[in-house]
Amino acid sequence: MAKTAKTSEFLIFLHEALLDGSLVKLSLGHYTGKEEGLKQIHIRRITVKRQEVLSFTYRYKTRDIVKNFPFAEAEEKIEALLGKDFLTASLFTTAFDLSYEGQKNTLKKTPPSHKEVPAASHDHAKVRQLDTKGNWLHALGITDADGHVKKDAQDKFRQIDKYIETLAAQLKDIAVKDGLRVVDMGAGKGYLTFALYDYLTTKLNIKAKVTGVEYRQDMVDLCNKIARDVGFTGLGFVQGAIDDYDSTGVNVLIALHACDTATDDAIAKGIGAGADLIVVAPCCHKQMRREMEARKAAGPLDVVLRHGIFMERQAEMVTDGLRALLLEYQGYSTKVFEFISDAHTPKNVMIVAVRNPKAKRHDPAILQKIEETKDFFGIRQHQLEKNLERVL
Ligand SMILES: C[S@@+](CC[C@H](N)C(=O)[O-])C[C@H]1O[C@@H](n2cnc3c(N)ncnc32)[C@H](O)[C@@H]1O
Repeated sequence: MAKTAKTSEFLIFLHEALLDGSLVKLSLGHYTGKEEGLKQIHIRRITVKRQEVLSFTYRYKTRDIVKNFPFAEAEEKIEALLGKDFLTASLFTTAFDLSYEGQKNTLKKTPPSHKEVPAASHDHAKVRQLDTKGNWLHALGITDADGHVKKDAQDKFRQIDKYIETLAAQLKDIAVKDGLRVVDMGAGKGYLTFALYDYLTTKLNIKAKVTGVEYRQDMVDLCNKIARDVGFTGLGFVQGAIDDYDSTGVNVLIALHACDTATDDAIAKGIGAGADLIVVAPCCHKQMRREMEARKAAGPLDVVLRHGIFMERQAEMVTDGLRALLLEYQGYSTKVFEFISDAHTPKNVMIVAVRNPKAKRHDPAILQKIEETKDFFGIRQHQLEKNLERVL
């Protein structure tokens, strides 16, 4: 569809909203372009390193990609897409809402649904989810007695906050009838377990029972003491192996940086319980690497895989790609994405799986893809498959 007077008018309204600072957000929808899986683009104004930019979140079927552009470049991009690859657009400003319908070639202006422009500071947005006055943050050494994040704990706090921001988006789709039953596998020192409990009960006012499962007795004792001290009555920690935990009745299963195949133990527990939401951030991928090592010289991938660093990266991608496929085979919709910049932690890939009651379970096409992938990389059995044989 060619550029029309309506798209030009839309672009003028956008330009003015950028100039007078009234832009709230913008989205492009009804994608007709060629890029596989792309559905929408959501655009908002943010400040990065003191420069105002438009942040584009490209929403694909199974992942999101974020790119930031200076205003002029962003406007050019929108102009190139509007009415061509994307047939609808919605502009929200504090003065009006404006929707463009490409197929009818119409523009509709309606009263504003937002009264305020959201905070544009990227850094500010990162620290909004949690109240730094939380006593548990002080007890775990993240903040000082006045609630200021300590210098050496800035990265950890950013990670915790970003984790909550990411989970918050997923939790919106979970039905909370009689409260949530959450388990955090491999809870460690409990930073993320406390953060989630605090967020669910203090911010969302949800009745939640949250349990951290952890090998190390000293961590379990410390966390239980802090939970008692700060009055988190629905939060508890138990000592034991993930694989031995009875996950019956769990709605939300989390496992962040549970080493190697402990992530598979956790995912299997989530699937076995029929959890609505499973969120894992894997760490070290030794099992797949060992399997791939055995075959690497024989295959065409040798040129890449004989280099240790590439083998490590490939093992990570194959392990997590197969995890996502195995979850899809069990009726989950999955997304794999970086949840925090690798400047804060290299263990920054997250797999989010949402149980999809409408999805076809045990789809033979997915099984075939799993088998073909394993065959290509010389993998006999993924640990998650072994675990699933036991729990299902
Ligand atoms: C790297 S720490 C991560 C802690 C926390 N989840 C985080 O992201 O900050 C991994 C923790 O998982 C525990 N862990 C690893 N494998 C486990 C298993 N199979 N069962 C129980 N705990 C396990 C370890 O003892 C360790 O405390």
